[in-house]
Amino acid sequence: MGKGFYVGKAFAIGGIIVAVAALSTIIALAVVYSQERSKNLQVPTTEGPTIKPTPTPSNKPWDQYRLPKSLVPISYRVKLWPRLKPDPVSKLYIFTGQSDVEFECVEDTDLILIHSNKLNYSSPGNRNQVSLVAVDSWAEIPFKSPWFQTVTQYMVLELNEKLVKGRRYRLYTNFTGELADDLGGFYRSEYKDDDGVTKIVATTQMQPTDARKAFPCFDEPAMKAHFNITLIHDHGTTALSNGKAIETTNITTDGESLQQTTFEQTPKMSTYLLAFIVSDFIFISNNSTDQVEIRIFARRSAIEAGQGNYTLSITGTILKFFEEYYKCPYPLPKSDQIALPDFNAGAMENWGLITYRETALLYHPTFSSNSNKERIATIIAHELAHMWFGNLVTLQWWNDLWLNEGFASYVEYLGADKAEPSWNMKDLIVLNDVHRVFAVDALTSSHPLTSKEDEIQRPAQISEVFDAISYSKGASVLRMLSDFLTEDIFTKGLQTYLNEFAFKTTVYTDLWNHLQKAADANEVNLPVSVENIMNTWVLQMGFPVVTIDTTTGTVTQQHFLLDSNARVTRKSDFNYVWIVPIRWGKTGVVRDGITWLQDKTATIPGMTASGSDWILANLNVVGYYRVNYDQGNWDRLLNALSTNHTAIPVINRAQLVDDAFNLARAKIISTVLALRTTLYLNRERDYMPWESALDNLDFFYLMFDRSEVYGPMQDYLRKQVTELFNYYKGLTENWVNVPSGHLDQYNQVNAINLACRTGLEECQTLVTTWFRDWRTSGTNRIHANLRSTVYCHAIAAGGATEWDFAWSEFLKATMATEAEKLRAALACTKQPWILNRYLEHTLNSSLIRKQDATSTIVYIAQNVIGQPLAWDFVRHQWSYIYKEYGGGSFSFSNLINGVTKRFSTEFELQQLKQFKEDNAAVGFGSGTLALDQSIERTQANIEWIKENQDQVLKWFKDNSRRDAAAVTSVL
Ligand SMILES: *[C@@H]1O[C@H](CO)[C@@H](O)[C@H](O)[C@H]1NC(C)=O
Ligand SMILES: *[C@@H]1O[C@H](CO)[C@@H](O)[C@H](O)[C@H]1NC(C)=O
Ligand SMILES: *[C@@H]1O[C@H](CO)[C@@H](O)[C@H](O)[C@H]1NC(C)=O
Ligand SMILES: [Zn+2]
Repeated sequence: MGKGFYVGKAFAIGGIIVAVAALSTIIALAVVYSQERSKNLQVPTTEGPTIKPTPTPSNKPWDQYRLPKSLVPISYRVKLWPRLKPDPVSKLYIFTGQSDVEFECVEDTDLILIHSNKLNYSSPGNRNQVSLVAVDSWAEIPFKSPWFQTVTQYMVLELNEKLVKGRRYRLYTNFTGELADDLGGFYRSEYKDDDGVTKIVATTQMQPTDARKAFPCFDEPAMKAHFNITLIHDHGTTALSNGKAIETTNITTDGESLQQTTFEQTPKMSTYLLAFIVSDFIFISNNSTDQVEIRIFARRSAIEAGQGNYTLSITGTILKFFEEYYKCPYPLPKSDQIALPDFNAGAMENWGLITYRETALLYHPTFSSNSNKERIATIIAHELAHMWFGNLVTLQWWNDLWLNEGFASYVEYLGADKAEPSWNMKDLIVLNDVHRVFAVDALTSSHPLTSKEDEIQRPAQISEVFDAISYSKGASVLRMLSDFLTEDIFTKGLQTYLNEFAFKTTVYTDLWNHLQKAADANEVNLPVSVENIMNTWVLQMGFPVVTIDTTTGTVTQQHFLLDSNARVTRKSDFNYVWIVPIRWGKTGVVRDGITWLQDKTATIPGMTASGSDWILANLNVVGYYRVNYDQGNWDRLLNALSTNHTAIPVINRAQLVDDAFNLARAKIISTVLALRTTLYLNRERDYMPWESALDNLDFFYLMFDRSEVYGPMQDYLRKQVTELFNYYKGLTENWVNVPSGHLDQYNQVNAINLACRTGLEECQTLVTTWFRDWRTSGTNRIHANLRSTVYCHAIAAGGATEWDFAWSEFLKATMATEAEKLRAALACTKQPWILNRYLEHTLNSSLIRKQDATSTIVYIAQNVIGQPLAWDFVRHQWSYIYKEYGGGSFSFSNLINGVTKRFSTEFELQQLKQFKEDNAAVGFGSGTLALDQSIERTQANIEWIKENQDQVLKWFKDNSRRDAAAVTSVL
């Protein structure tokens, strides 16, 4: 699936809205984690996010979550007829289906277990429509009436005679299911067309365990088979599936004139990659002579407005890139991509028919920012990468999901870089994945990448492995592996791996073996085997901080934990020692090659520096670890930043800031030292260091925006950002143009955002003028990149007129990305009564879609004025919110974390505890863990403020003075 935690720029750049603070890692954990979860939650569930022990009520095979090994599917025929109008009697939307599966018996058995969830097999006469024949004789095989084990989601057939090893059988079924709006299995999505007519789309999301909700199947990834799919649909609609449509014929069923589309048989594939869609969407396609047909489907008005054009223009390039990268042709004759109005994950890599949220596929230059565009390019690359890695070669079981998702999350940067070579995509993985997951992986509650096959059994447990660790840590350690092997060797190993296991399944060590062979054949110099190195990264949780004493060349590693008081209870076979590849340099000289740190401590010849020389380790942050130095080297690095910062590579400038703030949080270095890394920013023009600093300073905003520190902090940051603001003013010729560089465009947004947020008058005048121009002229001339920021600050500066205008624009926005920008910005107003009214709107799904309710409340809570209002609202409405959304994908953990993020006083702690007590009877659903984390985080915040407030206040006061001399004197 597509990576879930695209918090999005709208989130990150709102002036008063505060992004996920990398420093406040528990928050980051909760947000990242719950975003992942909410994106990937297929079936509405009220279960908490912790893995509970699997109940094993009996030893009966139907009480086991894993299929017995006696039967192996070979091919299916599936015919489905989704009704796009509600049934006149039941008022429900339904689908009917007919399927058969041919399977081979590989162990004698008198039992058939096949996955089936929420399907009904009874005919009007109440006879179960299930029959079984032996393929060679076509003799019917009798069985007791089928029954259903709903917990493990099986249809159970107890046979009167044994199936015989080596023989083939075919199971026929007729069934009915509900085409519900639950975003899982075969489900329905609704939208209004240009004439305001509600249209229904029937679509699917199978991963991980919902194919069984569409038709009976052996629903495990290793149970690969061929599928012959047929869809029945109304005239005027198009049917899509994984294979190419062979033909569409007119049929008459029950007196109704319909169409029937049959699809080419699929290659051998897993059930979770199937897709069936019936819609009235239209498409655009590549009309070149390319062998692979590429089509982009969406709502008619979206396609006609050109919103699919960008996607179409880059898909071919990215597909070709991966063919070259994998040295393997695209395995299918066609590649369809479709944008759906209702879709839970970001995207889903169904083989040959990739499904997306509209915001992840549709682009329009007027409405979409460069951030929206980047998301589209990376998510497409991610999904296309899966067409080989994941789909052609599939991990045997969900416990190895991290390799599938980590791999796609790594190479998405390579694919996007191919499509947009000027964007520096490959650098951004450091901010988006490495730094982000560091925050989660530095907690004692983290977990290793791998888990045992039998630890991941129930559908809820399977859903849980789709987390930030699997995606972002997986990506980070694979990038490190590719770096120390070299990309050439890494891809060589990958190519033979794909070749050997095409149409089959693997375990993660199969990849290590192929990489080892490639390394051996090319005499790559490694200290120990690929597997031994990687074991230290995938079998134990967390990562090290490598401390370099440049006076002696002594290097030590230590498990990095954000909370210095935390105790690690999870045992590791490697005692939290890693085999660490260190790329390092000295005063602007990059050394070739890698120094390996294999033990807890070592002395590395040459890793010493004196005078004004400095040592810099983890060049370009290709290694998955943080770095600390002796004070002298820190001083020299900081000096280099303030005198000649470009001597340090840009990624490492971002690293120095992020490492320093996090080391300070862990009490390894002082908070003042961390703040000192921001002193040079008035000379910094590059995006990555600024973004890194802003991510970290967000925690300071949360902790101090209601205290006396706020004023001096604002003064300091205003001073730091003024030159950046002026720089962009010049570069854009007084804001007429946007910078040409992708990252410069991002940093322009940072400049305006921070300048306005810190009260730079020129900035405020600028954004309010732009917004007024739009409001009075009716023409929005604000560049898409700047809209989120401009809307937010203009609404914050304005009153009801500005807000009401933005609200009406929100209601009539025709593009999802524009609506998203407005919805976030509406939370920026400083008028309590408007914020309260907006909060009320979140409970009215005709105003704010259900799926957006939580995030809207969270946006409001991020506004310092909205914070107490949102908290009151949530407390007051709790039982209603819980009742209304308790069973849905309304994410309580997101909500609880969002509204309590700023909590840092004893009084707030008491309120939180009271809230927990008062609502114990109602419950907290999936927010249970988040509530406990919030209490813990509030305590940690109280502690942190106690320890840091005085020195932070003094530091900001000392350093907000205008004269530069004063600044250097307080270094
Ligand atoms: C399914 O329905 C078809 C058409 O009504 C019927 O011919 C067939 O026997 C049914 N199959 C089973 C297994 O009941
Ligand atoms: C199928 O039915 C449609 C609508 O009734 C009709 O326009 C079309 O000509 C028919 N096609 C064939 C091949 O009969
Ligand atoms: C599935 O479709 C293929 C053609 O795409 C056909 O050759 C094959 O016989 C079909 N299988 C069954 C079981 O109908
Ligand atoms: Zn994925």
